[in-house]
Amino acid sequence: MKAIHATKIQKIYHRPSDSLEVLTGVDLQVTQGEVVLVKGRSGTGKTTLLKIIGCMEPPTSGILHILGTDTSKLTLEELTQLRAKYFGFIFQSFNLLPALTVLENIELPLAIRGVKRAPRKEESELVLDQFQLRHLAQRLPEELSTGQIQRVAVMRALVGKAPILIADEPAANLDQENAISLFSMLREVNDTRQTTIVLCSQKNLANSYADTIYRIENGRLVT
Ligand SMILES: Nc1ncnc2c1ncn2[C@@H]1O[C@H](COP(=O)(O)OP(=O)(O)OP(=O)(O)O)[C@@H](O)[C@H]1O
Ligand SMILES: [Mg+2]
Repeated sequence: MKAIHATKIQKIYHRPSDSLEVLTGVDLQVTQGEVVLVKGRSGTGKTTLLKIIGCMEPPTSGILHILGTDTSKLTLEELTQLRAKYFGFIFQSFNLLPALTVLENIELPLAIRGVKRAPRKEESELVLDQFQLRHLAQRLPEELSTGQIQRVAVMRALVGKAPILIADEPAANLDQENAISLFSMLREVNDTRQTTIVLCSQKNLANSYADTIYRIENGRLVT
């Protein structure tokens, strides 16, 4: 069974004056434990594709199976559950919630899954311990350095042990050293947990961390 099996994915954005066909027919198969890197110029549809794969946005047409589940057959509520169970997300701007502490931010994906307060806290503290960052638990995001924010975003993506990680330009705002540290963390998670990772990054140093590299050209993936 493939982690991700996408066939003829098309995405058209309709706007008041015109419409834009960003993805014209993406075919993508990702095996479990594979690290896939998607490249392509700005505006070619990388974020659009990651949103569709991560079930945050429906395709205009095409078929998407996630770990054997045909996502087109699911209700909105079932999609939300699938997202919470199967995916961890890391975004370019990291999207920590500013009013929540580090610990509460890490707990979020578990809260969405309906995990009760005590086990939620316990699991999140465990991840903080693994990263040796327990001392940051009660801090707010504004009290962190960029490198620390980046690690919290990674911990939040990992806490639920989701089988698939989606990372959209996770190193865009990082200097060389923090970028290398982020990609190494992702590779380690991939090695130890057989996690499937789909990421896009313009940084050349991401290339060496991927098993397969695709480019988006004319709305399709090419190798
Ligand atoms: N919600 C939307 N409505 C209309 N057009 C959109 C929407 N989201 C994205 N687009 C357009 O679709 C195209 C692809 O956008 P997308 O964000 O997927 O590109 P990208 O490859 O991630 O670019 P970047 O490298 O700059 O992040 C762009 O032309 C963008 O303006
Ligand atoms: Mg983008």
